[in-house]
Amino acid sequence: MSDSRVDRFPLGARVRLADLAVDPYPTFAELREAEPVTWVPEIERWFLTRRDDMLALLRDPDLFTTDAPSTIRDMFGVHMMTTEGPAQIRYKRKCLPPFHASRLRTASLAPLVAEVERRVATLRAEGGRTGEVRTGLARPIALHSVLSVLGIPLAETERVNEWYEHFARALANFAGAPELRAAGKGAADAFGRALEPILDELERDPDGSLLSDLVCDHVDPLTAEEIRSNALIILFGGIETTEAMIANAVWALLSHPRQLPAARASEAALDLAIEETLRWEPAVQSAARHATRDTEIRGVRIAEGEVVHCMLGAANRDPAHFTDPDRFDVTRTNAGDHLSFAVGRHFCLGAPPRPPRDPRRDRNALDPLPRAPP
Ligand code: HEM
Repeated sequence: MSDSRVDRFPLGARVRLADLAVDPYPTFAELREAEPVTWVPEIERWFLTRRDDMLALLRDPDLFTTDAPSTIRDMFGVHMMTTEGPAQIRYKRKCLPPFHASRLRTASLAPLVAEVERRVATLRAEGGRTGEVRTGLARPIALHSVLSVLGIPLAETERVNEWYEHFARALANFAGAPELRAAGKGAADAFGRALEPILDELERDPDGSLLSDLVCDHVDPLTAEEIRSNALIILFGGIETTEAMIANAVWALLSHPRQLPAARASEAALDLAIEETLRWEPAVQSAARHATRDTEIRGVRIAEGEVVHCMLGAANRDPAHFTDPDRFDVTRTNAGDHLSFAVGRHFCLGAPPRPPRDPRRDRNALDPLPRAPP
């Protein structure tokens, strides 16, 4: 079967992950134009590159599910990202309140702002006009934010960073090396053991953090295992993404210096510049789903159990939706229509609260899960 697929999808047959890691956009453009649903023999999975196809697929969890064996489930267990239906909605509802606009407005951001200022001052002092933005600013700020939202003491930052490195290597272990898997699972177990005293302390002395909310829920409590798995996916889902977004924003703006004044003009202009960074260079390039039964996309037959990757960076540069899509433009009014937080039931938990519904910006209609009440 695979051989005939190689003949039917010649562009897919030429796709190499190593090339995509360098610059995926020329390949995405070719695929979007000529083979929008393609088979990639290197990983034996399907790729989608048109935005409309991804919107339809990601909004259909009955047909395309995350509830199937995967490395992320093997590593962290069953959590909101690897389940569907009532269980997923329950997990997500319980974890959403700390991300609600009213909670974010009243949260004290002073320690985070102080940390950013301290890190920027260090970068300036160290390098003058150069500096290591990723390790010196982006990763520490990502760790600080995610630990604070969860309610994990900042004193744990170093340990979390080490566990995180093991998770990242285990989740990128496409060759299935047993030692990487074992190290990742060992780190997840160590995190679980470290969590126990933290949860005890938060139950005694609630602080309004996400873990504190979960452990103080005596009406419909999650089990200790459910708290651990969901905390792990939040930790993993929040760190590299936030780190990449900060680094990408610095890179995009500094490589387009003439756009800096427009981005700095107001808070709304800065928000738009960040949306444009997310569109132009998304931190997550793909959302994968398993077909629950035989089906078709654009006349291409997808068999039950096969995996389809929605290539989010390709959706973000789809000329059917974005004018001159390869151009970085901080004044692009529909930049927020990017799929960088995906869409549907698994829409990113950590995505910023959406602005009031605006029919011109369909991102507002993307997440069918109602946000928890303030
Ligand atoms: C710029 C930063 C971020 C980006 C680009 C991003 C991107 C994404 C994407 C694309 C998904 C969907 C994956 C899929 O459907 O297969 C996702 C889901 C998720 N994200 Fe984020 N993320 C970011 C920040 C965060 C933060 C800060 C947190 C938490 C502190 C977080 C937690 C999660 C969780 C828990 C999910 C799973 C949601 C579910 O399955 O219902 N993310 N994120």
